[in-house]
Amino acid sequence: SAAEKGGYDYFMLKEIAEQPKAVADTLLGRIDAAGSLSLDEVRIPTAELREVDKVVIVACGTAFHAGLIAKYAIEHWTRIPCEVELASEFRYRDPILDSRSLVIAISQSGETMDTLMALRHAREQGSKVLAICNTNGSTIPRESDAVLYTHAGPEVAVASTKAFLTQLVACYLVALYLGQVRGTKWGDEISAVIRDLSHISGEVERVLETMEPVRALARSLADKNTVLFLGRHVGYPVALEGALKLKELAYMHAEGFAAGELKHGPIALIEEDLPVVVVVPSPRGRSVLHDKIVSNIQEIRARGARTIVIAEEGDETVVPYADHLIRIPATPTLLQPLVATVPLQVFACELATARGNEVDQPRNLAKSVTVE
Ligand code: AGP
Repeated sequence: SAAEKGGYDYFMLKEIAEQPKAVADTLLGRIDAAGSLSLDEVRIPTAELREVDKVVIVACGTAFHAGLIAKYAIEHWTRIPCEVELASEFRYRDPILDSRSLVIAISQSGETMDTLMALRHAREQGSKVLAICNTNGSTIPRESDAVLYTHAGPEVAVASTKAFLTQLVACYLVALYLGQVRGTKWGDEISAVIRDLSHISGEVERVLETMEPVRALARSLADKNTVLFLGRHVGYPVALEGALKLKELAYMHAEGFAAGELKHGPIALIEEDLPVVVVVPSPRGRSVLHDKIVSNIQEIRARGARTIVIAEEGDETVVPYADHLIRIPATPTLLQPLVATVPLQVFACELATARGNEVDQPRNLAKSVTVE
């Protein structure tokens, strides 16, 4: 009903708008006054967490994209090797697991059969399983050794939005917590990240306030057949997520690529007026990445692409090469997905509407996939 949608036309719009609160709620009570993480709810003894020699993340769809981003954070902050695998592939390839492997299963619903089967397989090999889940008491957390709940509140739209942002927050918390517990790389950078995380919900709010041009752009592309998405580093999974949203909602052909892979094949797809969304990393921090992607934008534009550039406020180097420029607030590199994903969600939702599609219930899809 209209009341359930809180005045919005679709649950998806409501859930996009709820993201600042979802992010804040997921952080609530997990950072103490001294700026340290208190995650007592992760009931895996710290002695065991110190012994972990490998992290393996299993998930499907959007939750898998959160896992891909988590890998960057976990490896950077903890120096523990981290693999991310589609849950549906995991148990069929005889993965190497033992009691020192920490398996993280990410699932909004907690009922996804592929993810459940993957975690059962991991526990059979003696690994500890930590669930990151949005649904209290669902099967995946019940069958795991520990759970870190995301506090997105119920997500009704089939396309995941606020659950994704809170999965990212939970993944950052786990990565930082592992760093804290193990004492590796624990220092100024990590305390600074915790401070930045505690402000990030306000940044998500600011992004939401500037989405009108993104909607107008989406409407102007309603008759296109294909949209490509490019990113590097954590911007690469963001590109994959942008493409997935567009597939499921707009029923358009959409692909996400690592920008560095362009010249290994995908650049052959570029033709006159093809919309290409590019997620640009911050020019501060890892500036090599930034400069590389700016040359990628020049390359595709020279071949006729219509460039839709998502870049940090104040980044002027991209201006001459952007046919459309979407600004996001400055964040540390690893946290950028929390703000960069939001315009892509709005873009896909508006394109779906413009194409006359059912936003909350896309064809052929179910909110939670409880069969293998
Ligand atoms: C996201 O928009 C999708 N509808 C889908 O990929 C989803 O993320 C996937 O099915 C996993 O669901 P889960 O988080 O409930 O396990």
